[in-house]
Amino acid sequence: MNAERTDASNGPGTTPSGASSKVAVVTGAGSGIGRSVALELLASGWSVALAGRRTETLEETAALAAAGPGARDDAVLCVRTDVSRPEDVTALFSRVVAGFGRLDLLFNNAGTFGPGGVPVEELPYDAWRHVVDTNLNGAFLCAQAAFRQMKEQDPQGGRIINNGSISAHAPRPNSVAYTATKHALTGLTKSLSLDGRPYRIAVGQIDIGNAATDMTARMQSGILQANGQLASEPVMDVTDVARTVRHMAELPLEANVQFATVLATNMPYVGRG
Ligand SMILES: NC(=O)c1ccc[n+]([C@@H]2O[C@H](COP(=O)([O-])OP(=O)(O)OC[C@H]3O[C@@H](n4cnc5c(N)ncnc54)[C@H](OP(=O)(O)O)[C@@H]3O)[C@@H](O)[C@H]2O)c1
Repeated sequence: MNAERTDASNGPGTTPSGASSKVAVVTGAGSGIGRSVALELLASGWSVALAGRRTETLEETAALAAAGPGARDDAVLCVRTDVSRPEDVTALFSRVVAGFGRLDLLFNNAGTFGPGGVPVEELPYDAWRHVVDTNLNGAFLCAQAAFRQMKEQDPQGGRIINNGSISAHAPRPNSVAYTATKHALTGLTKSLSLDGRPYRIAVGQIDIGNAATDMTARMQSGILQANGQLASEPVMDVTDVARTVRHMAELPLEANVQFATVLATNMPYVGRG
């Protein structure tokens, strides 16, 4: 479990064997964007803790990494975590520091759309709370734990990348919980970005539109538009998101992509649809 390490904290460090020694936590790493980002980072020499509620999907991600380029046995840690539970988040970051020695990146990615298509007046409070607990409270808890570690460690600093959404800018119909939490993430990003300056903690956000994952499977079959019509929408390959996150992650800490918007080129978003 001990990854090869250097003390460089300003861009990927290089070990004697030529591998990067940087350490990342990726939440929601058992599927979709989280899995793709974890594999992208591992393939470029990072050590990555994979977090999510389902151990079996985390282990599938680890198996894919083991079969991939430059695989290192000691580079992956699977930690079953419900990001909405403070005790799980504390345990996750403790295990990461015990295993890898420090933390250079949190990709704050775990999220849920919640019950799609339910009008606001019919949305059960429990459903609202589940989305808030996952998308906002979970992201806060992970960011807080990462911030504490990055502030205290030597060399000081690190990077947090929050996974927002196009829904951090504009809603889809009947998506009040998802849209509200994704707008709130923008506030989380800005506040952490300001508060992180004294400690070399860089905080940015990626706002994605229509990457092909489980969450967007219905985009291609037909999804409700603002004008009341159902329409299928284009999607993009999730690996294009992963490459963007890696670029953001590997900048020196003196540089930060504050907000990146990555869209399926022809999706209805720009130009009022
Ligand atoms: N795909 C897109 O086009 C798109 C666009 C905008 C934003 N996003 C954002 O991207 C992120 C990932 O979405 P995705 O498209 O990759 O969908 P996905 O495959 O459904 O991924 C969601 C991930 O979050 C994890 N998760 C959910 N609740 C959790 C909890 N309480 N604790 C820990 N992990 C939890 C899930 O794993 P477990 O069920 O095992 O916990 C799953 O791996 C989300 O934040 C989403 O809002 C996606």
